[in-house]
Amino acid sequence: MGKRENDSKRGRNGSEAQLKLAVLISGSGTNLQALIDACAEPDYPARISLVISNKDDAAGLARAEQADIRTQVIRHTDFASRSAFDQALSEALAAADIDLICLAGFMRVLGAPFVDHWQDRLINIHPALLPAFKGLHTHKRALEAGVRIAGCTVHYVRADVDVGPIIAQAAVSVLPEDTEASLAKRVLKQEHRLYPMAVALIAQGQVAVVDGRVRIAGAESGATEAALINPLPSPTK
Ligand code: GAR
Repeated sequence: MGKRENDSKRGRNGSEAQLKLAVLISGSGTNLQALIDACAEPDYPARISLVISNKDDAAGLARAEQADIRTQVIRHTDFASRSAFDQALSEALAAADIDLICLAGFMRVLGAPFVDHWQDRLINIHPALLPAFKGLHTHKRALEAGVRIAGCTVHYVRADVDVGPIIAQAAVSVLPEDTEASLAKRVLKQEHRLYPMAVALIAQGQVAVVDGRVRIAGAESGATEAALINPLPSPTK
């Protein structure tokens, strides 16, 4: 969301109004939980107005209900086409007057008309350091490729899958004994830190998309000299 758009969200007393989020899920919803927990903090600049699942049995629905957040199930199987499903989603989001849509383990590809309509108001978390390992089974493929550093990415969504301006990334070391499950667990822990942080930056009006890339105002970059190196260099003898 651009700075100017965000300025229009200032309340009458000049304070920032909270950004209204919708979180879209298909499964366990641990990233949703991280956002719920962040929104429970008094100073957090966003709140979740709506959680939508495309599956009745998504465990994340119970997390939302527990937090008194409105939920809606819109089953993709109830629609004859992708575009009809996308249209129903769009209508529900517009009816709730949503400022920012957060995909959090939402396992449906959204069509170009939907993505274009919500451009720069639609973000995703992906369990890899994009542009590497787009798509599914990211941890398995990262292990097979022998990468030594893995991670996760929060990005604006564009019509191509797992493509779009990158807002924030977190990296972890891949360990020799890692399995797909152990690597997924270590990355997921970072997802839970990264997603609320990225949403806060957007809600505070610090994120702008300029020429297809994200510019962040007033946020510290990682320390310039510090690096995540794997394996650690051995001490010089
Ligand atoms: C997360 O690891 C998220 O990055 C991934 O699904 C998981 C959902 O977990 N998303 C994708 O793979 C999207 N391409 P959660 O339901 O516990 O948040």
